[in-house]
Amino acid sequence: MEIPIDNTETNQYKKLDAIIQKYKDTNGMLITILKDAQDIFGYLPMKVQSYISQKLDIPISTINGVVSFYSLFSEEPTGKYTIGVCLGTACYVKGASDIMEAIKEELGLDVGETTSNGMFTLKATRCIGACGLAPVITINDDVYGRLSPSDIPSIIHKYTKNM
Ligand code: FES
Repeated sequence: MEIPIDNTETNQYKKLDAIIQKYKDTNGMLITILKDAQDIFGYLPMKVQSYISQKLDIPISTINGVVSFYSLFSEEPTGKYTIGVCLGTACYVKGASDIMEAIKEELGLDVGETTSNGMFTLKATRCIGACGLAPVITINDDVYGRLSPSDIPSIIHKYTKNM
């Protein structure tokens, strides 16, 4: 019996091979490769990390150390929208923890979790360099600043209204 080939996955690995080929001889490109790999697969499961480890001849512990260190990377499937709550110092002193609580309450989520409908993943981030707008959150590439907890429901609603 013929084993069905997952074309999607084959294509994803072909794209990853092209990225690795492009950067493998340049030092300091591991984060770029991991970022591109995450764009291809949506997240960085262990099998993708170990594939990159073999292709680049870098220990899996090093790859996983980088993936775990940067909040940019996820080892679990993430929602369509990733909400990043900045917990850097400037945001923290301006009430980031209240913003975080408001989002948790609005979505019924804890940090690192994804809503059951696959729409939102909640993350805590380090300073994103927008301290003048503290407290700040990001939703994918959108940045929201000078927030108060009461702003959260209407911001979330922008993303859910076309569901
Ligand atoms: S501390 Fe939040 S943007 Fe800098």
